[in-house]
Amino acid sequence: MNVEIVPINHEHIPGFFECLDSVARERKYLRFLQAPPLESVREFVEANITAGNAQFVALDDARVVGWCDVIPKKMEGFQHVGVLGMGLLPDYRGQGIGTRLIETTLARAKEIGLERIELDAFATNTNAIALYEKVGFVIEGVKRNARKIDGIVEDNIVMGLVF
Ligand SMILES: CC(C)(COP(=O)(O)OP(=O)(O)OC[C@H]1O[C@@H](n2cnc3c(N)ncnc32)[C@H](O)[C@@H]1OP(=O)(O)O)[C@@H](O)C(=O)NCCC(=O)NCCS
Repeated sequence: MNVEIVPINHEHIPGFFECLDSVARERKYLRFLQAPPLESVREFVEANITAGNAQFVALDDARVVGWCDVIPKKMEGFQHVGVLGMGLLPDYRGQGIGTRLIETTLARAKEIGLERIELDAFATNTNAIALYEKVGFVIEGVKRNARKIDGIVEDNIVMGLVF
């Protein structure tokens, strides 16, 4: 499998939307349960491209199979902070692609001057938490019983990385 990590571009938008939607519909890992409408996703990506934000996709041939982004906070006082999100389609997990994606994205986030990266991960998502710890994130807190879905209650682990 020859998967390439590239900065997101306009032609990746429909594929990014499908990938995001597919991971969201697993109802396990992401906060949302389906992707926002394609037009919102398009606006989000185009704003990131214009701003030069850190947003990368993993491509298998031309197919988007994963993404990682760090979105800077807008409010004055918090603009040195970015929020990280990522995901891969199931067939592409556990092969080091997530590591490549996050390392590339964090390098760009640092390059554009962000100083702190934060994220939340559900407590059962041990692979994601292991990946985040591997690249330097630490657990900063726990939101207890933060999500209740399909009858299952879960904690949310708050993680942060300071460059
Ligand atoms: C979380 C995710 C992005 C990780 O990407 P990945 O490509 O699967 O991870 P990698 O193969 O690069 O592995 C990174 C680390 O995670 C841990 N890990 C990954 N898969 C693992 C597995 N099956 N068993 C144990 N540890 C695992 C290991 O610590 C690994 O580092 P190592 O191989 O150097 O020991 C990916 O699994 C995914 O998309 N999951 C569903 C969506 C999601 O959870 N998004 C994040 C929401 S917070």
